[in-house]
Formats: sequence, C-alpha cells, structure tokens
Amino acid sequence: MTPSNVKATLSFSDGSPAMELPIYRGSVGPDVIDIRKLYAQTGRFTYDPGFLSTAACNSTITYIDGDKGELLYRGYPIEELATQCDFLDVCHLLLYGELPNAKQQKAFDSLVTHHTMVHEQMQFFLRGFRRDAHPMAVLTGLVGALSAFYHDSTDINNPKHREIAAIRLIAKMPTLVAMAYKYGMGQPFIYPRNELSYAANFMRMMFATPCEEYVPNDVLVRAIDRIFILHADHEQNASTSTVRLCGSSGTNPFAAIAAGVACLWGPAHGGANEAALSMLMEIQRSGGVEKIGEFIKQVKDKNAGVKLMGFGHRVYKNYDPRAKLMRETCHEVLDALGLHDDPLFKLAMSLEKIALEDDYFVSRKLYPNVDFYSGIVQRAIGVPVSLFTAVFALARTVGWIAQLNEMIGDPEYKIGRPRQLYVGATRRDIKPIAQRP
Ligand code: CMC
Repeated sequence: MTPSNVKATLSFSDGSPAMELPIYRGSVGPDVIDIRKLYAQTGRFTYDPGFLSTAACNSTITYIDGDKGELLYRGYPIEELATQCDFLDVCHLLLYGELPNAKQQKAFDSLVTHHTMVHEQMQFFLRGFRRDAHPMAVLTGLVGALSAFYHDSTDINNPKHREIAAIRLIAKMPTLVAMAYKYGMGQPFIYPRNELSYAANFMRMMFATPCEEYVPNDVLVRAIDRIFILHADHEQNASTSTVRLCGSSGTNPFAAIAAGVACLWGPAHGGANEAALSMLMEIQRSGGVEKIGEFIKQVKDKNAGVKLMGFGHRVYKNYDPRAKLMRETCHEVLDALGLHDDPLFKLAMSLEKIALEDDYFVSRKLYPNVDFYSGIVQRAIGVPVSLFTAVFALARTVGWIAQLNEMIGDPEYKIGRPRQLYVGATRRDIKPIAQRP
C-alpha cells in the first residue's frame, strides 16, 4: 500500500485529543483512511453497517468504477476479456495475475479438464437430498462436502493445498451443478468429456442423456462462456466478503466456498437473476407490456415492498458494463434460436426503456444490472430458472478462490472480527419466574 502525503485529522467536539490518521493510495480509485489504531487511541469504533464507506482489505484482482460503469479484472476491461478470451483464460488471469501464454493456456486447460470428474461416492451423498430440493440448497451441501472427499487439499496455510483445491473447485463445479440438475429431473448423471471446452462440457453434462447425444451449438456455448466470464469476480461483494471472512478463521477452502454459495443464494445478490426472470414472467402473465405502468407504480410505492429486480447496484451508479454485454448476447442467442420475437425479451426491453426514462430510477441512479438479461439468455438456452443462481455460483467460484488465496497470502491478514455498537439492556439480574412480567 502506498502512503499518501495527505493525512486525515479526526477531532472531537468534547475536547478529547485529535488523532491523525494515515491515508493510503490505490493504483486507481478512492484513497482509504487507515483507522486501525482508532480504538486503541480513542476507545471508539467506526460505525458502518453494510460497509458503505469501509474497505475491508487491499486487493489486486478486480476494480470497479461504479460512476463510469467500468469493470477491470487485473487491469483488463471486461469488454476485452468477454470478446477476446475464454473463461479458462479468465480463470488463469484471476488466479495467477496474468493471462496465459500459449503454453500456459494448454497446460492450465488440461489441468482443469483432468479434474472435472467427481468422486463416485458423491452421487450417493447427493441421493440423500429430496428430488424437489432447490439446486442452491443442494449445491451448498455438495460444495461443503468436497472437504470430506478431498482430505489432501484442506490445509489453507499450505500453498500446494490451496492450488489443488482451486483447480478442483473450478473443474468440479460444472459437474456438480449439472448433477444437481439431473438429480432434480430424475435423469442419469452424465460424466464429463475431456475433448470438450469447459462451457461445452457443462452444456453436455446438463442436456445430454444416455439415449441421445447433445451436440452443443457454438453460439450457445459462447453465450454460456460469456455468462461465466461476466460473473467470474466482482471485488468485495457480499459472497466474496463472506468467503474471506469464513476463510479468515483458517477453515478449509471447500468450506469457505460453500459459505460463498450460501450467501450468493439471496435475492439481493446472486438470486436476483432468478427473481428478475420470475418478475418478468409475472408481468407477462398479468397482461404483458400494457401492465408495465402499473408495475412501475408499485415499485415506486415504498409500502408495496416491490423492487424492480435486475435494477440497481451498490457500486454501479451507471449502466452495469456486464448488462451491456449480456444484452448483446441475448440478441445473439435469440437470433440463433429463431426467438427474436420472444415476448419476455420484448417485455424486458420495454421495461428497461420506461424505467430508464422515469425520474424515480434516474434520480436514484438505478440502471439495469447483469441479472436483468442473464435470466433471459439462460432460459433460452434451456437452463431452468431454479438453476440460474447455481450457474452464477459456478462462475464466481474462481473469483472467490482468487480472493481467498490473496487474503491468505497477505502479510496483513487477520481473522475478521467486526465490532458493534451495543444498544441492548445494561447489566440486570434474573427475577424468579413468578415475578417476571
Ligand atoms: N427497485 C426499486 N427501487 C430500488 C431498487 C430497485 N431494484 N434498487 C434500489 N432502489 C431504491 C431504494 O429503495 C432506495 O430508495 P430511497 O432512497 O428512496 O430509500 C434507493 O434506490 C437506493 O437503494 P439502496 O437499497 O439504498 O441501495 P443498496 O446499494 O443498498 O442496494 C441492491 C443495492 C442491488 C441490493 C438494490 O438495488 C436491489 O435490491 N436491487 C434489486 C436486486 C438486484 O437486482 N440485485 C442484483 C445485484 S447485481 C448482481 C450481483 O452483483 O450480485
């Protein structure tokens, strides 16, 4: 971290001595005020629920400029990565800091490909779930269970263990997601095939059956690969922070990633793609484009508790760059499948247009996020709605691991332990039960 020449001075109106706080500069983006000594020197904590102004770590992985609508992985714009690289190149970049050269690409692709099969016993573990379980419930369990299957890579302090756990997780996630899907469908599991690309292999494991081979369509494979790239990392979001906090106790990588999967499930985070598509389907059912006005009215009514899912972001106060790329993919996929007149896509475009012109959204800087379009793409490809968040988890796994490994390798790393402002009862004594109100 580079110290800035500028220092912050914190003064108090009660006459307590002022405190000078160091400031550090990032390579780009806002500086941070170092408050680590604040409690020791003043006996006070800072208060920032939801981390609105708090940087919890320093990182070299992903940079977002929310005002500009810019997203960089290791310095490369998401637009260049999405159009010039494939997902495994991006995995290499996130994990090791650089895009692979031709030799590294071959070796990395082969390494991941040769770890895609899961322990055969995994399917018996999976069989303990109800067939109608939500895939995210199943995935949380399966990922956590990996630590029971791969004992030889659970020491988070051993760089070799971290490396092999990273490869195993990236390689096995598509297999696990496809298994969760097949289990829910009551269809046999399809084993991975090494001659296929990462994305094509996932699609085959999802859609082939022992009676019928699945020949992946290039446009659809590219679309799934792009979904993976766009979701691969997003700096210190809720699930990534969960993985870091969970891993900070020294737990094993599989357990930490399972915690990330659980966090991602929520509708304000990864569950938004499922919620956005369900919302579009609901508007469609209740009358389609004509009902948009009524729906927007409900969204603006704070008492109605309705949100425009797929809109708004904690960091982006401009169009989410991932949403632009996903919108483009949406057109390509619908064209390739002859679905240009897809009513949900048309509805989404009308809803987006109306919302972008409405003062409620304009004044709050609410723009479409990646989830607004990713659900339409996945649905067109044949991914069931309930599996959308699991696909997001598959893609985000590499980001979680890269962030976890970065934290473990950081000399400043400590167990995460937020403090609180206690506002509950002060010390009191227990009354005999007959005297309690
Ligand atoms: N629909 C209607 N109003 C909204 C929405 C929305 N989607 N998002 C924010 N607002 C309003 C919010 O009510 C508040 O209004 P007011 O100032 O009058 O109280 C204002 O905009 C600021 O919102 P906030 O809730 O303070 O913002 P936040 O940073 O805490 O929340 C968010 C960000 C993503 C949780 C929120 O925008 C949201 O719930 N969006 C819908 C869910 C969604 O699409 N999530 C996916 C995020 S992208 C994928 C990912 O990276 O995980």
